Amino acid sequence: MTMKTVLCDPRADAVLTRLDEEARRQSAEMRRYYDAKKQSARRTTDPGSAADMAFVRDKFVALDPEKCDLCYMLCRSIKARRVVEFGTSFGVSTIYLAAAVRDNVRDFGGEGVVIGTEIEPTKAVVANANIADAGLGQFVDVRIGDARETLTNAGGSVDFLLLDSWIPLVRPVFDVVATQLCPGAIVVCDNVQIYEQEYADYTSFVRNPKNGFRSVLLSHEGGLEISVKLD
Ligand SMILES: C[S@@+](CC[C@H](N)C(=O)[O-])C[C@H]1O[C@@H](n2cnc3c(N)ncnc32)[C@H](O)[C@@H]1O
Repeated sequence: MTMKTVLCDPRADAVLTRLDEEARRQSAEMRRYYDAKKQSARRTTDPGSAADMAFVRDKFVALDPEKCDLCYMLCRSIKARRVVEFGTSFGVSTIYLAAAVRDNVRDFGGEGVVIGTEIEPTKAVVANANIADAGLGQFVDVRIGDARETLTNAGGSVDFLLLDSWIPLVRPVFDVVATQLCPGAIVVCDNVQIYEQEYADYTSFVRNPKNGFRSVLLSHEGGLEISVKLD
């Protein structure tokens, strides 16, 4: 059955349904892998060992659909035209972000882009194909390489940033993009509650109003941090 997302876009929904089915097929394999290690499957957010890193290399680890829906809504609400994403994988969240940018450009004019970034070249190739299948290729630039380098210049002020990748890199990547965020920009970061300690350097920064952000933790699975840059 086709997924019903908030996008109201049958073509994108068809691609998202296919990707969701593929990701679900992987989850059994992931459960077995992490059960054998007596570890939560959510450890994929921080693949510590070289073996874990090799295991997740071809895994989706996609953002949950309701979190993706929320990202679409937030991007629409602030009329985001320049969106940056750390962690593209096979393009699931990117499709939602690109749909928001497309719809904002249609409704409010101007130009728009989602700058994705993915360190695994093979994933980036598939992501681009999925995004094209969804009819959103013209709104996405997936930069292949380490986000700490690929995101140093987003080409203009950034309205929305999604942080959805391996935890140790989240704060360094945030630091790279933070100076490019416009006032009112929104930053979304996944899983900060389940990995409270690991994310402490990030959350302590965005939760301190002296750093120019206001931040709330939403109770979505794993905890979703929503931060707004105020100055
Ligand atoms: C949690 S997944 C992203 C899922 C994606 N947002 C989605 O909804 O489908 C994290 C991705 O970040 C990528 N990644 C890890 N380290 C990276 C880095 N230094 N630079 C860019 N991408 C990186 C991983 O290869 C992985 O595909």
